[in-house]
Amino acid sequence: MTANTRTDDPSVDLDDIGTNPTSNPSFTDLIAARLSRRRLFGLGAGTAGTALLQACGGGGGGAGAAPFPILPPAPAPAPAPAPAPAPAGPMKLGFNAVAKSLADVVTVPAGYTASVLYRLGDPTAAGVAAYKNDGTDDATTYDRRAGDHHDGMTFFGMNASNKWDATSATRGLLVMNHEAITPVFLHPTGQTAVSGVRTVADEVLREFYLHGVSVIEVNKSGSTWSYKQDSSFNRRVHTLTEMTFSGPAAKTDYLKTKYSTDGSKTRGTVNNCANGTTPWGTYLTCEENWAGYFRRVTANDNANRTAKELASFSRYGVAGTGRELWATVTPDTADNLYGRWNTEVTVVGGTATDDYRNGANTYGWVVEIDPFNPTSTPKKRTALGRFGHEGACLGPVVAGKPLVWYMGDDSQNEYLYKFVSTRNWDAADIGGGIAAGDKYMDDGKLYVAKFKADGTGDWLELKLGVNNITASYASYAFADAADVVINARHAADAAGATKMDRPEWTAVNPKNGEVYLTLTNNSARAIGTTDAANPRFYNDPKGTSSQRGNPNGHIVRFTDTGGDPAAVSFKWDVYLFGARSTASADVNVSALGADNDFSSPDGMWFSQAAPGLLWIETDDGKYTDVTNCMLLGALPGKVGDGAARTITNFDGATTAQQATFVGKAPGTDGLRRFLVGPKECEITGIAESGDGRALFVNIQHPGEDTKVADITTPAKFSSHWPEGGNARPRSATIVITKNDGGLIGL
Ligand code: FEO
Ligand code: CA
Ligand code: CA
Repeated sequence: MTANTRTDDPSVDLDDIGTNPTSNPSFTDLIAARLSRRRLFGLGAGTAGTALLQACGGGGGGAGAAPFPILPPAPAPAPAPAPAPAPAGPMKLGFNAVAKSLADVVTVPAGYTASVLYRLGDPTAAGVAAYKNDGTDDATTYDRRAGDHHDGMTFFGMNASNKWDATSATRGLLVMNHEAITPVFLHPTGQTAVSGVRTVADEVLREFYLHGVSVIEVNKSGSTWSYKQDSSFNRRVHTLTEMTFSGPAAKTDYLKTKYSTDGSKTRGTVNNCANGTTPWGTYLTCEENWAGYFRRVTANDNANRTAKELASFSRYGVAGTGRELWATVTPDTADNLYGRWNTEVTVVGGTATDDYRNGANTYGWVVEIDPFNPTSTPKKRTALGRFGHEGACLGPVVAGKPLVWYMGDDSQNEYLYKFVSTRNWDAADIGGGIAAGDKYMDDGKLYVAKFKADGTGDWLELKLGVNNITASYASYAFADAADVVINARHAADAAGATKMDRPEWTAVNPKNGEVYLTLTNNSARAIGTTDAANPRFYNDPKGTSSQRGNPNGHIVRFTDTGGDPAAVSFKWDVYLFGARSTASADVNVSALGADNDFSSPDGMWFSQAAPGLLWIETDDGKYTDVTNCMLLGALPGKVGDGAARTITNFDGATTAQQATFVGKAPGTDGLRRFLVGPKECEITGIAESGDGRALFVNIQHPGEDTKVADITTPAKFSSHWPEGGNARPRSATIVITKNDGGLIGL
C-alpha cells in the first residue's frame, strides 16, 4: 500500500519493481557450503480499552496559526503534570494491545493520548494562510507549508541557546521527510494532464514544493505540543533547493549538467524515505525511488547512449515517462525547471553540459542537512553510494573509533550496505555542522552484505580493483572511484552480495550495538531462490487473490564481529517473521497471535530514552483485508537467542526445505500492537522527545487509493482523516503522550 505508484498506472508499486538481473545468491546453491541513561522498568498505566484519536481529536497548528475550521482550537495549555517516575524492575511493555482495525481513526492504548501536530499544507512561516485543503491554495506559498507524505523523522532537542541538546524534553527541531504525494487531493480535481502532458504549471510547482524535508520548531507548553509557525528555524528543503556534491563523485564528468557545468551541484532532493543522523547533530535524508521521477523514453534515447550508460539505466530502472510527468510542462523556464526532469540526450551531438542527460546521476544519494543553520546548503554525500536509499542508521558512536552507517536499498532483491568512516570520532566535532560531515562522510569504505548459510556473513568492500569491481567485469566495466559509487548496485553485483526481500529501515540496539533490518516483502522471491536469510516462500491469500513469495516480510538482525562496527564479518539470525496469526507454523514462524500479528515491516527505531525498546511500523497492502497499518512495541533479545530451524515452503504444487536461524518467539510480552492508523495509510517515521515522554509518529497517505473520478464526491473518499466530515485526507505528524506523563510504551 505504499503510494509509490505511477501516474499512468496507479496499480504499479514502484517499490515492487526489481531491477536486479544478476544470479547473485539468493542461494540454495550455497547451502551446501554452508547504556542506559536511566533505569526504566516495570508496569505502565495501561488499562482495559483503547483511546481513539478520531477526526477531530485534539491538536491544532502551530502557535499563531489561523484556527482551522474543522478542528477545534488548540486547548489552552494545562499545567504540566508531575511526570510519572521511570518504572522499577525488569523492563516490560506497559500497555494493553490495540486490536486490529479497519476504522478511519488512529487508535492508541488506554492511558495514552494522540494529537495531530503537523499536517500536509500547514503553514511554516508568518503570514501564510491556513491550508484550505480543497486544491486551491496559492502554489507560490507551498515552499512555506508542510509537504505531503510525512516519512522518516528526527527530534533534535534544542536548548535556550538554540544549540542541539539531545536531552531536551520541551523544545526541539522536528525534521522530517516528505516522500511523495497523493496527487488526487492536491489540486481542484486531481492532476490536469492531456494526452500525457501536464498542462497546469502551478500544479507542478505545488508538487515540486510538496516533496523534500521539513524543519519545524516544536515546543511543549503544559502538556501540549505544538509547532511554532513563525520560528526562524523553520525551513522547507524541496526539489528546487540547491545542493552540492562531495565525496568521490563530486566534480566528475558523471555529474555535469547544464545547471552545473563542473559537476559540483544540483537542485533538490526527492522521494525522501527513511532518514538518519550524525553524532555532530545534523540530519540525513535518503533518496529512495528517485528513478521513477525522470523521463527517459527508451525509444528516443537509447540510440544516443553508450553501452555503459544503458547498463546503468537498466540496473536503476531509469526508463519511462516520469511518474508525475513533470518534464512535460511547456514552455520550459529559462533555467529548465521542468526540462531538467528529462534525462534523455536532448542536444544530440552536444555534451553533458548542454542538457540533463546526467540528471539521473544527481539523485540516489544520502543528503546531509544542518537543521540548526537554516541558510546552510545541503550536501549529497557520494561516498555512501547511489542506490534506492531507504535510510542511514548511525551505529555505535565511540570516541577514537570510526563511525558507521547501515543502509538498505529498497527494491526487490536488493542489498544491505554499510559505510565506515576513515576518520575516528572526536566529540569535539559536536555542533560542527556540514563541515564535520566533510570530515567523516567523504572518505571511508563502502561495503555490501553477504549473508551465508551458516549464520555468519561477510562485508564485501566496494572499491575499484577488489571483489571483481574492475574494468573487465562483464556486466559493467568500472572506470574509476566515482563510477563505483554512482553504480554501487553494479559493484555490489560484482562482489556477490545477497539479494534480500526489499531492505527497508535499519536500527541499532543501544544496549548491545546489534543491527536490525526490516525486509518488508518480496513478491519476486521464488520457491527455488530462497536462502537462509530470506527463507520463506508461501501464499498469503487476500480474499480470493493469491499473494505469493514473501508477502508479509521479516526482520533480520546481526552483530558485527567482536562488536566492532568496522568489522568485515558478522553473525545473524531472523529476529521476527510477519504473518497472519492464523497462518500455518511454516508461515507464522514467530508464533504471532491476535495481539501482535502484522505484515510488511518498514519503519523501525530503538528508543534512546528507554534502551532496548524497539518500535516497528508497517507499510502493508497484504493484510489490509483485516487491518490498517500499525505500530508495534517490542523488547527483542539478541542474535542467537533462538535456534536453527528448517522451514517447509510450498508453492501450491511442490514443497521445498529451507534451513535458517530463527530468534526466540516474542510472545505478547516481547511484541505488542501499540497503534493502528486510519484507512489506506502507512505508519512511518518515529522520534521521541529527549525524555522519552512524547513520541512523534507519521501517518502517511491516508485514503491514497481514492479514485480521481471521485474527487467531487467526498463520500467516496477512502479516508477523511484527520479532519473528518467531508474533508480531504492529509498526511500528518501526531504526537503521543501518556496521560500520567510517563515513558511511552513502558
Ligand atoms: Fe519508501 Fe522503502 O519505503
Ligand atoms: Ca519506508
Ligand atoms: Ca515501504
